[in-house]
Amino acid sequence: MNIERHLHATGRGTLPYLFAPAADALPSIPLVVFLHGARDRGSDPDLLLTHGLPRHVAHAAELPYHFLAPQIPEGSAWAEWRAELLQLIDEIADRHRADRRRIVLAGFSAGSAAAWELAAAEAERFAGLVLVAGRVPDAAGDAALGRLGHTPVWFFHGGRDDRAPVAPVKAAVSRLHALGVPVRFTLYPDAGHAIADAAYGDSTLQRWLATVPRRSPSAPRVSQREVDPLFLNRWSPRALRADPIDDASLLRIIEAARWAPSASNSQPWRFLYVRNGAPLWDETVELLSGNNRLWAPQASVLILLLSKTTFVRQGEHLPSPASNHSFDSGAAWAHLALQATLSGWHTRAIAGYDKEAARALFKVPDEYKLEILIALGRLGDDSVLPEPLRERELPTPRRPLADLVAAGHFSLPRD
Ligand SMILES: Cc1cc2nc3c(=O)[nH]c(=O)nc-3n(C[C@H](O)[C@H](O)[C@H](O)COP(=O)(O)O)c2cc1C
Repeated sequence: MNIERHLHATGRGTLPYLFAPAADALPSIPLVVFLHGARDRGSDPDLLLTHGLPRHVAHAAELPYHFLAPQIPEGSAWAEWRAELLQLIDEIADRHRADRRRIVLAGFSAGSAAAWELAAAEAERFAGLVLVAGRVPDAAGDAALGRLGHTPVWFFHGGRDDRAPVAPVKAAVSRLHALGVPVRFTLYPDAGHAIADAAYGDSTLQRWLATVPRRSPSAPRVSQREVDPLFLNRWSPRALRADPIDDASLLRIIEAARWAPSASNSQPWRFLYVRNGAPLWDETVELLSGNNRLWAPQASVLILLLSKTTFVRQGEHLPSPASNHSFDSGAAWAHLALQATLSGWHTRAIAGYDKEAARALFKVPDEYKLEILIALGRLGDDSVLPEPLRERELPTPRRPLADLVAAGHFSLPRD
């Protein structure tokens, strides 16, 4: 691959940079910006070509993305060059008509920490983050992590890295999962710090860079009153990834549903689940109607939520109708969805399926009502969705509080 060398003039001198164009000059091509580690600082960008992403690009026959790798001077830090870096990214994106909603920041070592800080500060600019052998910045508390919103983050780390220990990275991965940020973690258990070639040579990462989904143009969800981020970060994507879920994780999510409140503590909810590829899976997928057939088959599990319509009251022997069975099961579904988010999974409820056929397939007795199917999986790239659904793949907003709540008499809008 022919890599170009350039100089970016700034008010404080010039920044050398490497650039390689994508094979296609389409306007939807991503731009991948690489931030080097501390050792590669200087005034000779060829230094960058010895390892990691620049090396991979230099050896590639052709590129599915535009590639940009600036170099900062010896003795300086990325944070000092933030304004110039953003300006250079804008310039390059404009000049090469890269897709502004598909700009990915990738780093190595100190460059990873810098990429992380830049993305947290300017979250709306970036479609993804690749952090290789990076130290988790001290400032990366929940607020900073939460600001990443729905930006996918992919960590690569060596289990024996003595320059950037792996433990804080593992902790950050768990927190990001809990906050609903789509996160991947590739651990090389026996490797140290020098993993740049392995990570950037990873063919799955390269495919991901080429297909990185567009960043959503909408603002992240903001509440009118402060609530736990969990309530905002639970959302219902259609782009799910069918990662296998083990029994313990699945039952933990359903355990949360078990603790929902119900009228007379009747606990009318019941759950029948089918794992992707297990017996009954194909028949369950056949039950889905309309658009649900286009995305739900990518889930890890489909869970059928039933509610028992009768209930034997305390002190009685015969069942009487449980008039709140659906309402109570709705509460159980909400618990389940929130625990799934806390555990790093995503859910989407599905009312659009053939209930009669489902009753027959799952042999559900008459006294149980079929409520919803619940699709559960890891958050996937929206590139897997067909176009009309991809455009709608955004966390939804909410009506304002004032439309929903009044003190005393009904004084709300009647629409
Ligand atoms: C009872 C119920 C039925 C739903 N049915 C479907 C469905 O059949 N297909 C679908 O794509 N989404 C379905 N949804 C998802 C909703 O559209 C989604 O929850 C809503 O737009 C709010 O977005 P959020 O969950 O991301 O906050 C359903 C949700 C609920 C609660």
